[in-house]
Amino acid sequence: MTRTIPALAAAAALALFASFALPETRPAPQEGQEQPSAAADPHEWWKHEVIYEIYPRSFADSNDDGIGDLNGITSKLDYLQELGVGAIWLTPFFPSPQVDFGYDVSDYEQIDPMYGTLEDFDRLLAEGKKRGIRVILDLVVNHTSDQHKWFQESKSSKKSPKRDWYIWRKGKSGGQPPNNWLSLFGSPAWKLDPATDQYYYHFFYPEQPDLNWRNPEVEKAILDVSRYWYKKGVAGFRLDAVDTLYEDTALPDNATIAGTDKFGRPKQDEVHNRRLPEVHDALKKLRKVADEYGAVLVGETWTSDIEELKRYYGSGDEVQLPMNFMFAMVNTLSAPAFRKQIKLVEDAGVWPVYVVGNHDIVRSWNRYGDGINDDAIAKSLAALYLTLRGTAVMYYGEELGMENNDPTRKEDVKDPIGRLGWPEEKGRDGERTPMQWYPQPHAGFTRGTPWLPVPASADTRNVGLQTWDPASVLNFYKRLLALRRAHPALREGDYVPLLGDDPNVLAYLRRTKDSAVLVALNMSTSIPTLRDALAGQGLDAKVGRVLAGTLQPEKKAIPLGAITLRPFEVLILDVGPSAAAPPDRPRPPSPAANL
Ligand code: GLC
Ligand code: CA
Repeated sequence: MTRTIPALAAAAALALFASFALPETRPAPQEGQEQPSAAADPHEWWKHEVIYEIYPRSFADSNDDGIGDLNGITSKLDYLQELGVGAIWLTPFFPSPQVDFGYDVSDYEQIDPMYGTLEDFDRLLAEGKKRGIRVILDLVVNHTSDQHKWFQESKSSKKSPKRDWYIWRKGKSGGQPPNNWLSLFGSPAWKLDPATDQYYYHFFYPEQPDLNWRNPEVEKAILDVSRYWYKKGVAGFRLDAVDTLYEDTALPDNATIAGTDKFGRPKQDEVHNRRLPEVHDALKKLRKVADEYGAVLVGETWTSDIEELKRYYGSGDEVQLPMNFMFAMVNTLSAPAFRKQIKLVEDAGVWPVYVVGNHDIVRSWNRYGDGINDDAIAKSLAALYLTLRGTAVMYYGEELGMENNDPTRKEDVKDPIGRLGWPEEKGRDGERTPMQWYPQPHAGFTRGTPWLPVPASADTRNVGLQTWDPASVLNFYKRLLALRRAHPALREGDYVPLLGDDPNVLAYLRRTKDSAVLVALNMSTSIPTLRDALAGQGLDAKVGRVLAGTLQPEKKAIPLGAITLRPFEVLILDVGPSAAAPPDRPRPPSPAANL
């Protein structure tokens, strides 16, 4: 489907500018007011605000060294406010040798000079606050850099008071490591330190030694790091790699299972070094400190089933927002597959956290697009994760339809796993390319040489051009984000699935006592007609009013008896009592209606 039909674009433009009054931006909190009061706002802020993930290296470069930085982010806060997000999660910008691009932290309480200074950070916080944008940091709890002074001390001697801060063991005879565990990043999980003739354990790169969470001093040190940043005013943390915090101290070998991993190694059942029950004790402690500051914890919680995901919530005393990667990895635009994932989390009785992409996953554009209807598919996915009941975490550039730009030559790869696993594993550079701001060299990200190249599609997929195109992915995101804040049914409503197990259309109601919104997403190339989709729901409305849609103009009345959807069409209708009221001004003529 093409979105360049001029009449259609013109109609959409009219609809956009004549749209019913929604606050474009949220009023900034009053001076000194940390959180909106509970009385004024029945939800905690993190239940209805969208969290926007920023990879600082790639967002905006203020000093043209090719690497994004904190001042760059601050300069884009107006954009983020207009987009309509309520919080930003910044991946690590702390001092780091950058082996894992910041996830190898060498000092948890400073800023790496390439990203700025503590003063720059304070200014980012203050400017964010003025715009109602909270700041969430990334806490790397499982490991430090091998250059962190804790590890340097630990490594210095077997007698070091910090020796037990990491996991050191004697090797087996014959120069063998203590057991068969494997690093996720392609090597054995043990590295020999010849000076003390012991091995240390690292689940990720050898430059990322695992902390020993069984040592209370380690636990205290990390909890203190969280306090340090809460005191500065951060709103919470995204907790990195939480499932690897503990290992079985007896170090039994993991069983080998069928298949090989992307580095060609036989797979292992990681029962002895992953997802140990003690993880939940650590999360409870991190949460207790978070509660002292009214902060929120977002979890990097890769899970294989709903029970496992549910455990991360604890009994309301662990992570408030464990990200649902089972939803993120559906990887095919399929109504039944998404319906199933939504049902699982709804039935679990927890607050859902939807995410479709991040800095470790190929961009959703590439995973869901079909090469023909990519814009429409990007909008469908956006409508899905932004209108479901739950918190949405979005990745920078999703609002533009940014695509992966994978390296084509091994020598260009920056992410070490891409060099190690080439060509099967190309690494994560492709999903970490610079934000696309303008139709300029390097998409206006830098006037220097960017650390990663932007794709050719940046010439058209950028903020500058999409801002002025009413039918752009960007303007659709803005509309959805504004609606999500303003409409009571989207803000507070229940999720009510519709249409049983329809193979093509995912449809649901969001409803409160007094309001209802119908979301209908045609995830196929067919042209279905939904007959009496709302039968039995006890709603009186005979017509729905378009709140947002990819083909129908806003405010148009749509008879609910038979709704026909075009391929990949998104239709979001107000079907509550207010839908029956006439629109407050005449509807613009709509060629789209004749389609
Ligand atoms: C998390 C991060 C990833 C990093 C890893 C090790 O999975 O998201 O980028 O490489 O932890 O810290
Ligand atoms: Ca820079």
